[in-house]
Amino acid sequence: MKELVRKKEKELIIKGEGLTTEYFRRDDEGNVESIDTALDHIDISIIKGRFIGIIGHNGCGKSTLAKNINALITPSEGSLTVCGMDVYDEESRMKIRSMAGMVFQNPDNQIVSSIVEEDCAFGPENLGIPSQEIRERVDRALSSVGMFEKRRNSPEHLSGGQKQRVAVAGVLSMEPECIIFDESTAMLDPEGRQDVLNLAHELNEKKGVTVLWITHYMEELTGADHIFVMDNGRIVMEGAPREIFARDEELVQHGLTLPGITLLSRLLKENGVKLSGVALSVDELFKELMAL
Ligand SMILES: Nc1ncnc2c1ncn2[C@@H]1O[C@H](COP(=O)(O)OP(=O)(O)OP(=O)(O)O)[C@@H](O)[C@H]1O
Ligand SMILES: [Mg+2]
Repeated sequence: MKELVRKKEKELIIKGEGLTTEYFRRDDEGNVESIDTALDHIDISIIKGRFIGIIGHNGCGKSTLAKNINALITPSEGSLTVCGMDVYDEESRMKIRSMAGMVFQNPDNQIVSSIVEEDCAFGPENLGIPSQEIRERVDRALSSVGMFEKRRNSPEHLSGGQKQRVAVAGVLSMEPECIIFDESTAMLDPEGRQDVLNLAHELNEKKGVTVLWITHYMEELTGADHIFVMDNGRIVMEGAPREIFARDEELVQHGLTLPGITLLSRLLKENGVKLSGVALSVDELFKELMAL
C-alpha cells in the first residue's frame, strides 16, 4: 500500500498546499494601502502527462497561479513543488522556469529575436546548453510545431497563429515537462485558436508534455483530462469535463457559461429527445442524434 502511495506521489508534477499570493498596493511613500489576495490558500495536485484546463472569470487568479508554477513569483504562503522542485529554493527557480515553460497571451511580448530560429535558441542558450545540442533542439522544436520551413524568417512577417507556434517552439527547445498556456489564443482568430489548441493536444499526446491550458472559454476544455474552475482566488470546482459541464448552475454562479452545443443537447434532452447525456462537441451530438 505504502509503495502504491509513493508511486502515485511520484507521478504528481505539481503539488500545492495552502498556496497563497497577496499583492500589496502601496502609496507614494511606500505604506501599504491595501492587500489583494489573488490566491487564497489553494490546494492543487496535477498528475504528470495530463491535459489540464484552468478556467475562471477575469481577475480570479489564473495568471497568478501560472506565475507561481513558472516560478516568476514566490508564494506569500503555503507550499508548492513543480517537477519535484520546491519553488522557495532559489537555486531551483531557474530550472523550474525551463521545466514548466509558459506561453503568454501576446506572442509579440514573448518573441525577442528578429529571426525565428534565433528566438528559439534563446532559452537553451540561457540554460548554458552546448551549441550543437541547441541546434538540434531548435530544429526539433520548430519541426514539432510545423515551423521548420520558416526558421530563417523574421517573426514580424508571420501571422498571429504562426508567431504563437514560434513562441511554443521557444518553450519546447528548453525541453520542458510541462507547458502553461496562459490565454495563448486570446489574440487569434477562430482558426488560429483551434490551431494552437490542437498543437497543445498533440504535444500532450505524442510527447507526453503536461499541459495547463488557461482560458475563459469552456469549449476549449472539452478535450481536457481534468478541469479546475477558479473564482476569487480559490479553486471552486474540479473534475472531468463531463462532470463539470453537468453542473451548469454552479458554473453560472462562478460567472461562466456552458458551450452552445452542450446547452443545445441539454435543451433537447429536457424536451424529450433521448440523448444519453450532455454532449461536449458537435460531433458527439451529431452521432447521438443520428443513432436515434
Ligand atoms: N502585479 C499585480 N499587482 C497587484 N495586483 C495584482 C497584480 N497582478 C494581479 N493582481 C490582482 O490579482 C488578482 C488576480 O489577477 P490575475 O491576473 O491572476 O487574474 P486572472 O484570472 O489571470 O485574470 P484575467 O482573466 O483577466 O487574465 C486580480 O484582482 C488582480 O487585480
Ligand atoms: Mg490572466
